Amino acid sequence: MIKKTPNTLEFLAKNLTETERFGKVLARHLNPGDVVFLNGNLGAGKSILARATIRSVLDQPKLNVPSPTFLLALPYENEQWKILHADLYRIKNPEEIDELGLFEDTQTLVIIEWPEKAKTLLPHPTLNISLNFSSNAKERVLRITSAQGSVTFSSLATDEIFSQRDQLS
Ligand SMILES: Nc1ncnc2c1ncn2[C@@H]1O[C@H](COP(=O)(O)OP(=O)(O)O)[C@@H](O)[C@H]1O
Ligand SMILES: [Mg+2]
Repeated sequence: MIKKTPNTLEFLAKNLTETERFGKVLARHLNPGDVVFLNGNLGAGKSILARATIRSVLDQPKLNVPSPTFLLALPYENEQWKILHADLYRIKNPEEIDELGLFEDTQTLVIIEWPEKAKTLLPHPTLNISLNFSSNAKERVLRITSAQGSVTFSSLATDEIFSQRDQLS
């Protein structure tokens, strides 16, 4: 099941492995400086997706990528990439966002879980990804939207996983 419009991609991840596989696909299209929002309830798979994406971007399949729930943001890097993985669930006041310095370096890839906890304080994301529970406990509906004209989104939309013949539109 794939739904495709000029600024929306939607598909069903049938299990954990398919969500992780999408992280690898995403990693092929991300660029330095991209800001990725991960929306969805507790247990939807935001951290699973972030982990798979970070491991793949850095080409370190076994890298330890814990959920940053208590530390709010964790940094990763190699020769080519700088990444910040944030979880704003526990943010209590807006100043905490400033202290995290998420956007100080314009070349850092920033992946943010629970962006809605800091709505107005964040820039517009390059990609907005929501993970939603489906009828089956292992299924998640993943919906990717973007501001018009995002190079990253256009590139992702051309990926072979979104060019299957059974797409809806
Ligand atoms: N299709 C799926 N995609 C992602 N996670 C899944 C899926 N099916 C089951 N799960 C489980 O859901 C949980 C997601 O946890 P996590 O990524 O920490 O959620 P979040 O960060 O959104 O709170 C994990 O225990 C994972 O094994
Ligand atoms: Mg999480």
